[in-house]
Amino acid sequence: MADAQKTATLTIDGQDYELPIYSPTAGPDVIDIRKLYGQAGVFTYDPGFTSTASTDSTITFIDGGKGELLHRGYPIDQLAGKSHYLEVCYLLLNGELPTSEQLEDFESRVTNHTMLHEQMMNFFRGFRRDAHPMAIMVGVVGAMSAFYHDSTDISDPWQREVASIRLIAKMPTIAAMAYKYHIGQPFVYPRNDLDYASNFLRMCFSVPAEEYQVNPILARAMDRIFTLHADHEQNASTSTVRLASSSGANPFACIAAGIACLWGPAHGGANQACLEMLREIGTVDRIPEFIARAKDKEDPFRLMGFGHRVYKNFDPRATVMKESADEVLELLGVDNNPVLQVAKELEKAALADPYFAEKKLFPNVDFYSGIILEAMGFPTSMFTPIFAMSRTVGWISQWKEQLSDPQLKIGRPRQLYQGETAREYVDIENR
Ligand code: SDX
Repeated sequence: MADAQKTATLTIDGQDYELPIYSPTAGPDVIDIRKLYGQAGVFTYDPGFTSTASTDSTITFIDGGKGELLHRGYPIDQLAGKSHYLEVCYLLLNGELPTSEQLEDFESRVTNHTMLHEQMMNFFRGFRRDAHPMAIMVGVVGAMSAFYHDSTDISDPWQREVASIRLIAKMPTIAAMAYKYHIGQPFVYPRNDLDYASNFLRMCFSVPAEEYQVNPILARAMDRIFTLHADHEQNASTSTVRLASSSGANPFACIAAGIACLWGPAHGGANQACLEMLREIGTVDRIPEFIARAKDKEDPFRLMGFGHRVYKNFDPRATVMKESADEVLELLGVDNNPVLQVAKELEKAALADPYFAEKKLFPNVDFYSGIILEAMGFPTSMFTPIFAMSRTVGWISQWKEQLSDPQLKIGRPRQLYQGETAREYVDIENR
């Protein structure tokens, strides 16, 4: 933590309280209120944490006004263009880009941990076939703590490292198995001679009846989707992982909690909701109707894939994702995809509308990802599991950072209580 260079003075009932202000390497200054309740007997109030820093961190930085996203200082467009997902995983976990030897060792450790304990397959068979794959992922990842006891002791740095590798390595296998179970096809084992993205595509789309050839352009687009979703500061699911970890929960339980939070349509579930919305709109001529609904205060409808708590400019990930969408759809010969046409016209219409301009509602990462995933052959129910796979390294990096923080204590927010004050119990005959 940086030393306080200046202070803020808070005056309550004529009493002044000096609060330290810390300046970050980038972003807004923060006011340290940790001693406020002890000194002034008051809480701060910030539902949704719109103005609250929950931690200090060195992993990811977002400048919402500029539409900038940095991972350990490297801009996301450079990483998406020049790096690949496992190298970005190494960067997020370790703070620096790897040497070729470090990268080779890291990729080898991940590749050699992609198989699941064979008995875990029974968990999948306990679900209905029409279970949402996210329900399966929450269950199976949580169950990993019952199979990998030798990497649940968070006080042991080696066990933390093993759990990290196991989670990054096995999430694609779990997601692919959830998909195969959902469609009634046999599970496909991972292969050690394939890269991370190719392995995932093969586990999802190959069948025993014939050889499966991974299309390198689709593998590259898949890898880019993983990279674009890897980490994103203290978003809702990352904050969930940190809060779960603050109680000392094991890594598999913490990541299962993150998966559960990501599932919501306001967060990681938005890519599925966005594609369903584009399909509901159906044709370009119906766009004005939906834009009017999104602007109507009486209508709870929102344009899925638009808006962001932090970005008040274009989400830089959406810009890269849009390029990938054009490449993939052209490759697959579906660049006249009606959903893509609606998406492009909707984006134009929304960005030209004063409501969205005034509220700074721009397309976010989820606006185009669903279009690419659908073109690749994934059902909408697999969009959020793919987001969860990608974000696992971000959750783990933030989890490791929190565990190495000497200030770590259990997260326990307070409240503004508006309920009844103390009153006597009334027997039922007197009510
Ligand atoms: C992700 O946090 C992260 O970093 C998340 C994420 C990550 O990588 O982890 O980036 C991934 O979750 C991306 C966001 C995906 N969600 C969606 O696309 C769902 C649609 N978007 C909205 O639900 C909303 O924009 C949020 C939840 C993303 C952000 O909501 P905020 O910051 O709490 O803003 P708000 O709800 O207070 O809205 C501010 C105003 C409101 O109008 P007023 O009450 O001020 O009049 O903007 C309006 C809202 O009604 N608004 C929208 C809108 N989003 C906000 N109006 C229409 N359509 C929308 N999509």
